[in-house]
Amino acid sequence: MNEQQFISSDFSILSQPLSVGWQSPSNIALIKYWGKTGIQIPKNASLSFTLSQCATDTSIVFSPLSKPTRSVDFVLIFDKKKNTDFRPKMIDFFERISDYCPYLRHYHLEICSSNSFPHSSGIASSASAMSALALCIMELEQHQQPAMSELYFKQKASFLARLGSGSACRSIEGPLVGWGTHPRITNSSDLYGVVHSDSVHPIFASYRDTVLLVDRGQKEVSSTLGHNLMNGHPFSEQRFLQAQDNLAELVTALAEGDVNTFVRIVELEALTLHAMMMTSDPSFVLMKPNTLHIIQAVRVYRKETGIPLCFTLDAGANVHLLYPNENAEKVMDWIENEWASYCQNHQYIHDRVGNGAKKM
Ligand code: DP6
Repeated sequence: MNEQQFISSDFSILSQPLSVGWQSPSNIALIKYWGKTGIQIPKNASLSFTLSQCATDTSIVFSPLSKPTRSVDFVLIFDKKKNTDFRPKMIDFFERISDYCPYLRHYHLEICSSNSFPHSSGIASSASAMSALALCIMELEQHQQPAMSELYFKQKASFLARLGSGSACRSIEGPLVGWGTHPRITNSSDLYGVVHSDSVHPIFASYRDTVLLVDRGQKEVSSTLGHNLMNGHPFSEQRFLQAQDNLAELVTALAEGDVNTFVRIVELEALTLHAMMMTSDPSFVLMKPNTLHIIQAVRVYRKETGIPLCFTLDAGANVHLLYPNENAEKVMDWIENEWASYCQNHQYIHDRVGNGAKKM
């Protein structure tokens, strides 16, 4: 697939309003995407677990207009209130996808969206938000072109989501999604995410992810700025090669059920991501003291119990704890007893690996 194939040229505008809705989950990268060219072409391949509880619900009513507008005509209702904060980001998104979805200018869009996780919890919501939006748009496209294949629907949804936010392209399906060209991910592409379809040991199919909300504050540095700082970063070329190697090693570990290698690579990826931030110019630190406390305690806990609990981090202070389902009871007790007090307002979210977006 190349970009040209995602240009919709043969469409007929609906005569009646169409109402659609999708629930799309967040995802947590095991191999991190950090560094891009242009509009979200990744510098290295990434691989993520799709989550299930942390999700965005989006519904759109597409009402046909008598004549097309110059730019997409929309109103956004977020958490039941009219929202203008996200408007610039949405205008950018509609601009970026306009060549691929020219029909959008023939409708008025009433977009209603809400997140299942606490607002401004520090959890990346752009992945779930952009993927839910892309899926709603694809459902309109499908109504206009009923012969569309399911494969095309999903690929283009992921392609559009990527233009909104890179990591969003990994939220359409699950449980493991690869994005970026890599020899170990079948049919991988820089343009959209693909389900990692090779054999994966059952232990990873039901993995748990508890997100400890260490810091609910606004991120000091946006992901986009952080990605840009990888251009001209003294260690970036080596980092991109390392990510490709780590992904290959992780894929083997996933197939073999090798949890020790999984733990080693996942933690290495999280710390490398933050090492890149700490060594860019200007440098920045997104971890908080409690992030480090938790990281150290995870390593002690693993040593003492033999339970393969590990951590990973996004571009923020919150810690994702990953562990097999069979250890869930013990780990959840430990979190409740030891770690709730390290989270802002005692908040954490128990999530698990999921299978992707659902139509509402
Ligand atoms: C650290 O997808 O948020 O979460 O493409 O600029 O929107 P943009 O960035 P974004 O970057 C996410 C980076 C990460 C790692 C990852 O999810 O792979």
